[in-house]
Amino acid sequence: MRIGIIGTGNMADALGGRWAAAGHRVLFGGRSPERAGALADRTGQSAGTLQEAAAFGDAVLLAVPYDAVAGVLAALGAADGALRGRLVVDCTNAVGPGFRLTTGTGPGAARTIADATGARVVKAFNHLPDSVWRLTPPAFADGPVAVPLCGDEEAALDTVGALVRDLGCVPLTVGGLDRAAYLAAATAFLIGLWHSGHDPRTLLPPFEVVTA
Ligand SMILES: NC(=O)c1ccc[n+]([C@@H]2O[C@H](COP(=O)([O-])OP(=O)(O)OC[C@H]3O[C@@H](n4cnc5c(N)ncnc54)[C@H](OP(=O)(O)O)[C@@H]3O)[C@@H](O)[C@H]2O)c1
Repeated sequence: MRIGIIGTGNMADALGGRWAAAGHRVLFGGRSPERAGALADRTGQSAGTLQEAAAFGDAVLLAVPYDAVAGVLAALGAADGALRGRLVVDCTNAVGPGFRLTTGTGPGAARTIADATGARVVKAFNHLPDSVWRLTPPAFADGPVAVPLCGDEEAALDTVGALVRDLGCVPLTVGGLDRAAYLAAATAFLIGLWHSGHDPRTLLPPFEVVTA
């Protein structure tokens, strides 16, 4: 698969590196040619501009801070339909001070991106830090990491599910884009716990206990 990555930071590095190792063709697109070039050199892939990354792939990973998204989409010509119909993977976390969602009680990042672009958006990979995505494979004591996916289109979910499996993880489709706001809120809650030094896993009983 051809994957364009918008952004050259931690998530671009972690996920792009793993997908490159799995045999995909990745183009890292950044506002800094040096950073994009360094990632491309390290992974044996290619580098380009944000526009080239957006146009490159069967899938486009949007991996910039959420507060930069509107500006990036504008620069890409989203208002003129540059991303219409494309598969965009939204891994952003719109988490601000106090671990609050900067999207407030609104529709959430993924829906906002979908509305602004007309893209087929799938929310994925936002719920865990890049350090986990760099594991080969990402797995804990209980087994491979499950990756919740939210999206409105089955084919797009299937494609992102394949990318999840290529990391050695298990895709878990949990609903449409209306559920993405819940995934975003849950992640903001988790981030708050981790930053306070708490282990969220101590909150959760085994499945069998809940379903007994
Ligand atoms: N890191 C994690 O553990 C993690 C986990 C899950 C989700 N996420 C989410 O994934 C997204 C990316 O996170 P990250 O950790 O990869 O961030 P990062 O390491 O800070 O990298 C951000 C990237 O976005 C670019 N960028 C920032 N502002 C921009 C703008 N106005 N126009 C164009 N490019 C811009 C940066 O370019 P420059 O290098 O030129 O500044 C950089 O390439 C965020 O939304 C974050 O919430 C992160």
